[in-house]
Amino acid sequence: MSHTAPVTPVAEHAAPAAGSSEADPSWIRVKSLEKVYRPARSAPTHALSDIDLNVRRGEFVSVVGPSGCGKTTLLKILAGLIKRTSGEVSIAGRQVDRPIPEVGMVFQAATLLPWRSILDNVMVPAEIQKLDKKKARKRADELLEMVGLGEFQDKYPAELSGGMQQRAGICRALVHDPAVILMDEPFGALDAMTREYMNLELLRIWKENAATIVLVTHSIPEAVFLSDRVVVMSPRPGRIAEILDIDLPRPRELRMMSSDAAGVYVERIRKHFNASVID
Ligand SMILES: Nc1ncnc2c1ncn2[C@@H]1O[C@H](COP(=O)(O)OP(=O)(O)O)[C@@H](O)[C@H]1O
Ligand SMILES: [Mg+2]
Repeated sequence: MSHTAPVTPVAEHAAPAAGSSEADPSWIRVKSLEKVYRPARSAPTHALSDIDLNVRRGEFVSVVGPSGCGKTTLLKILAGLIKRTSGEVSIAGRQVDRPIPEVGMVFQAATLLPWRSILDNVMVPAEIQKLDKKKARKRADELLEMVGLGEFQDKYPAELSGGMQQRAGICRALVHDPAVILMDEPFGALDAMTREYMNLELLRIWKENAATIVLVTHSIPEAVFLSDRVVVMSPRPGRIAEILDIDLPRPRELRMMSSDAAGVYVERIRKHFNASVID
């Protein structure tokens, strides 16, 4: 990929908090976060409780935990898509209350617009942000090529498999070179080999763009392989059970996935879940 467009650092747009810099250990800052869903017709759900998490600029953090422990809720709050009940959430010193343009989100389901071609779907964030159309188009081409959808640009979502739609959703999240990439089980619909390939591509994009990534995944080995740190969550209400530093060398290579060193981390994370279903 010959992409050279500069990443727009959020800090340049925001009024940076004191000490907000490259090495800022709390570039994404979550403090005492609580989320209670209060549906009109059913009992409230305490989805997140007492979440404290700081993410460094340029860090790759994964979140794992059983189904229903609040992973999607956490990402949606970070993306400014839903309201928190209490606590603080900020990115680059700016409180998150609504979606921030510098954040790209990949949803659990691809959520493509059925009446738009694949290319036009990928271009949505560029249109919303009124980016230079030619540049964005070039970037969209590169991304679609990268994920093997180069020849499918003019097709419609219904003409593509679930895995292909998911890959298009990943391109859409990356087209505006977001400084922060939030991903909710983005590789769930992919076959094992495509998934490994996408893992490596994601690491490349992360490095090239100096992006900060928070990834939710149900694959513990994948979380270990990709991340600087893995956040392990427990359910009812969703809390952080442990945060592990993954001290494996970079660049990561696929063979590390099956290394003894990675295996030690995987086992340690698995111990948290014994009988529960990982989602
Ligand atoms: N919009 C909503 N209204 C009510 N409850 C919700 C809503 N979204 C999620 N929940 C509940 O909040 C909890 C956490 O959900 P979620 O964040 O989707 O978990 P995960 O992504 O870890 O599976 C679950 O018990 C879920 O049923
Ligand atoms: Mg989820």
